[in-house]
Amino acid sequence: MGVKNMWKILVFLIMVIYCWASMAEAEYFKYKDPKQRLGVRIKDLMKRMTIEEKIGQMTQADRSVVSKEVMEKYFIGSILNVPWTVPAKEASPKTWVDMVNDLQSGSLSTRLGIPIIYGIDAVRGNNDVYKATLFPHNVGLGVTRQDYKEISLSVQERVFLSSMDRMNAGIDMFMVGFTYEEFITQLTYLVMNKFVPMRRVDDAVKRILRVKFIMGLFENPLADYSMAKYLGCQEHRDLAREAVRKTLVLLKNGKSLEKPLLPLSKKASKILVAESHADNLGYQCGGWTIEWQGLSGNNITAGTTILSAVKMAVNPRTQVVYNANPNADFIKSNKFDFAIVVVGEYPYAEYLGDSSNLTIPEPGPSTIKSVCGSVKCVVVLITGRPVVVQPYVETIDALVAAWLPGTEGQGVADLLFGDHGFTGKLARTWFKSVDQLPMNVGDPHYDPLYPFGFGLTT
Ligand SMILES: *[C@@H]1O[C@H](CO)[C@@H](O)[C@H](O)[C@H]1NC(C)=O
Ligand SMILES: *[C@@H]1O[C@H](CO)[C@@H](O)[C@H](O)[C@H]1NC(C)=O
Repeated sequence: MGVKNMWKILVFLIMVIYCWASMAEAEYFKYKDPKQRLGVRIKDLMKRMTIEEKIGQMTQADRSVVSKEVMEKYFIGSILNVPWTVPAKEASPKTWVDMVNDLQSGSLSTRLGIPIIYGIDAVRGNNDVYKATLFPHNVGLGVTRQDYKEISLSVQERVFLSSMDRMNAGIDMFMVGFTYEEFITQLTYLVMNKFVPMRRVDDAVKRILRVKFIMGLFENPLADYSMAKYLGCQEHRDLAREAVRKTLVLLKNGKSLEKPLLPLSKKASKILVAESHADNLGYQCGGWTIEWQGLSGNNITAGTTILSAVKMAVNPRTQVVYNANPNADFIKSNKFDFAIVVVGEYPYAEYLGDSSNLTIPEPGPSTIKSVCGSVKCVVVLITGRPVVVQPYVETIDALVAAWLPGTEGQGVADLLFGDHGFTGKLARTWFKSVDQLPMNVGDPHYDPLYPFGFGLTT
């Protein structure tokens, strides 16, 4: 072989290597490479995106109006589940995972394969999910809990009223729910006609992608069934029960400091548990549980009512008598050692729960009066906010703000019977009467029934 031929072969080899390398480069997407720095991945992906794809990322549509085809057509960046668009009534974790993965696969099959964030519209835990507990928040269904709904909603509404200056209000992804097509059309029009600067869109999309990269969605976009067994498992219930113990606030304990009523004796011979809130899991959970405005009843999800928890806590020989609306004669004719009165609001959410009087609905107040007038009583309040209690505080021996404790009623019994001590403090001021409102700590007229940060310990 002559020198000339050797040169030819060498040149040929170099060309082969060069072509192979440039082909490999064409196949190589920097943004898909987890070894690349976050900033590099975002930049690489951004430069490949069309305006349609960018606006798609800014759109969060409701589950009920999207399909795999919609995902592919509009490049939707996120999907949301509201309580009434759950995959099925009492859906199992498998049903959730399958639904989320089906929609996710729609996004993955788009040109750039950007995964969606799947959001659950919830205020506490995954409370749309049947049998889920308050904690922990991520139960491995491929969904992310979504907060601050009100903020995004109101800004979104304002965008539709007058659009570009308001868009700087700090929202990147818009919870448009059912009207995703209108949103996309409008925002595209506004960007095309320079009412919304392209750099604002880029700014939003950058942050959305950043979250997706950090969550590891590009590497692991699909959920599997491996976590399904943890939904509502004992470990989660224990954690939720601990959360209940830490949030209850003891407002009064005994008519004098020397004679506290709590902790209650587990060895009492006969105790009364009164009012329907003691035996209603739906009331105990409040709004945003399984359904938007909440539900009533003990079979709405899995959990333990306060009444059941009390029965489990006391000595087996202690007689626990439950009466939803006991009258004075009933109380006097029984010899109760003490009474646990569980009263409060009925489930509500958002504006349907607005109240200008903030009173405890009947028969709560009359039950407090009849029971506490006849026997030593602890009143447990099931409410989403401070309510009017000043007229009854005198007659009540001990008063506990339990808020909406959720599925684990045992957390309440743990404190009432002294297995654990009260530690919770008020996260808001408890007013005397509604005409004081608004009243916040630091106001010149600050004259609360219980000040911000108040809470007795046992
Ligand atoms: C719960 O009980 C009510 C009334 O007994 C019944 O109508 C409802 O279907 C039950 N719900 C579930 C989830 O079992
Ligand atoms: C308090 O307001 C609620 C809600 O507006 C209403 O249903 C209720 O009747 C009112 N209660 C009293 C005692 O005025």
